Amino acid sequence: MSAGSRRIVEGSQPPLTYPPYKSGALRSPTRPLIKLAGDFSDFAAPVYGYHAIGETDADLTRQHAGEPLGERIIVSGRVLDEDGRPVRNTLVELWQANAAGRYTHVVDNHPAPLDPNFTGAGRTITDDDGRYRFVTIKPGAYPWRNHTNAWRPAHIHFSLFGESFLSRLVTQMYFPADPLFAFDPMFQSVRDESARQRMVSQFDLSLTEPEWALGYRFDIVLRGRNSTPFEART
Ligand SMILES: [Fe+2]
Repeated sequence: MSAGSRRIVEGSQPPLTYPPYKSGALRSPTRPLIKLAGDFSDFAAPVYGYHAIGETDADLTRQHAGEPLGERIIVSGRVLDEDGRPVRNTLVELWQANAAGRYTHVVDNHPAPLDPNFTGAGRTITDDDGRYRFVTIKPGAYPWRNHTNAWRPAHIHFSLFGESFLSRLVTQMYFPADPLFAFDPMFQSVRDESARQRMVSQFDLSLTEPEWALGYRFDIVLRGRNSTPFEART
């Protein structure tokens, strides 16, 4: 899953620099990239440690003494390669804001309440069908000061590991028909409309559990013409 082995269609992946995404400017290279021997310095995402996956790691509503506030949802899908084959036994991690649009993070000072029953981090391993499944809370939109009145559409961050740490892929999952899509430079940095739609989950009645939670399907394609847009190609 190295960058060199993936055929990238013009406009289907976010560029390293996208001027409307202002806070990305300081994180974007202004000079040609230099290839370094791989290390961990380019992680753009939380690192959860190396202990075994626990029983509640994939259920973010059961990680504390009480239930978190907000709308319980199920997020599930398959991790696929460019030929549609399942990618098995792959570590899928997610992190997200709570229902009020606040991260459990020291630099998040958005004046929305934290939820003592919600950390917003989860992980699981794909099964033989390449499938993963999380139970979580639908995240809220949050402001991010990129420009006046800038709000991120509700989203869940995903990270996938390949066979080694150097093949970590990071992307964001959105929810259908979010009115903030048109105003979000991060979403819009993927210029190809069909590629953008590959970041949007689909409501799925078959994943929805009666009397319990709505289900959203989000398949992730690691490479090829139908690849999911990724933030980091390590
Ligand atoms: Fe976020």
